[in-house]
Amino acid sequence: MSLVLRVGPARAQWWLEHLQSLLPDIECRPWDDPGDPAAVRYAVVWKPPAGGLKRFPNLELIVSIGAGIDHVLADPELPQGIPIIRTTGDELTQRMREYVLMHVLRIHRQLPLVEAAQEKAEWLQIVIPPATGRTVGVMGLGNLGGDAARMLATVGFKVRGWSRSPKLIDGVSPFAGFNALEAFLSECEILVCLLPLTSETRGILNADLFAKLPAGASVINAARGEHLVEDDLLAALDSGHLKSATLDVFYEEPLPSKHPFWAHPKVLVTPHVASMIDPESGGKMIAANIQRFIAGEPIADLVDLEKGY
Ligand code: NAP
Ligand code: GLV
Repeated sequence: MSLVLRVGPARAQWWLEHLQSLLPDIECRPWDDPGDPAAVRYAVVWKPPAGGLKRFPNLELIVSIGAGIDHVLADPELPQGIPIIRTTGDELTQRMREYVLMHVLRIHRQLPLVEAAQEKAEWLQIVIPPATGRTVGVMGLGNLGGDAARMLATVGFKVRGWSRSPKLIDGVSPFAGFNALEAFLSECEILVCLLPLTSETRGILNADLFAKLPAGASVINAARGEHLVEDDLLAALDSGHLKSATLDVFYEEPLPSKHPFWAHPKVLVTPHVASMIDPESGGKMIAANIQRFIAGEPIADLVDLEKGY
């Protein structure tokens, strides 16, 4: 009985060693050297290539090294009927909380203007409203978005949250479903996207949505590159309707060196690091979920494939 692991080469060995020490009864093997394919029962993966998982005829479980499972469902030859577990956890939530707070505050306190002024030795005193006078909207109120919205409300922002089903979070005005999207967007000066990528949310950050935001709004996308229609964002920034965009995720990762986002004065690029799962904390979550699966115990992170996230 074996487990096969696919993760970026830079961290593959670190992951393998951790998983092997946490799952001593299961042989943990790298994706490119899986041994006997018939022995592979568990696949722990990030962005498996098309057709990669169907190599294993006795696969019982797929584990996403990530909160999102879109990268697994993207495989057109994905073997059907195999449960998928996503990876969540306090560290993942904590890191995303830090990312969202840092970038919302950077925009709110106009840090790019302060830094530009320093370069010119200019004493620029900008009067900034307190957070209680600034509205931030969070799209997606799950583990990450729900936590981020709660945290922003605690800091003092006026917070709105948008989800599929209504969610009540202290200090967060709830909006649910596409019928409420326009009303949700109408006052969001800073919009944070933490949606899963599904057929309903692909391309949701588009010209139509940007037009519904107040003039001068900023967008933070820490969810998936495919949520964003890149040309629509560039047009909204270049027209001045949007003030700035902070992007952690992209259609193509790594973001190609010639991509216009890299040099755009209104875009901050971060390299998909908002909340990375590391082998120490993530490995523990993954190993515990695999052990629960083997024992037939309930698993909170088991994905509802009907919902698609
Ligand atoms: P989650 O717990 O599954 O929550 C998803 C939220 O989105 C839920 O509130 C859900 O509504 C809402 N939602 C789903 N479809 C919707 C729709 N059609 N309309 C409105 N709301 C919708 O997900 P999570 O763990 O918070 O993670 C969110 C995403 O963050 C992941 O899927 C991944 O893509 C991304 N992520 C990025 C990084 C990074 O480093 N950049 C790290 C981790 C995760 P309901 O509450 O009604 O179900
Ligand atoms: C990272 O992007 C994740 O889905 O956890």
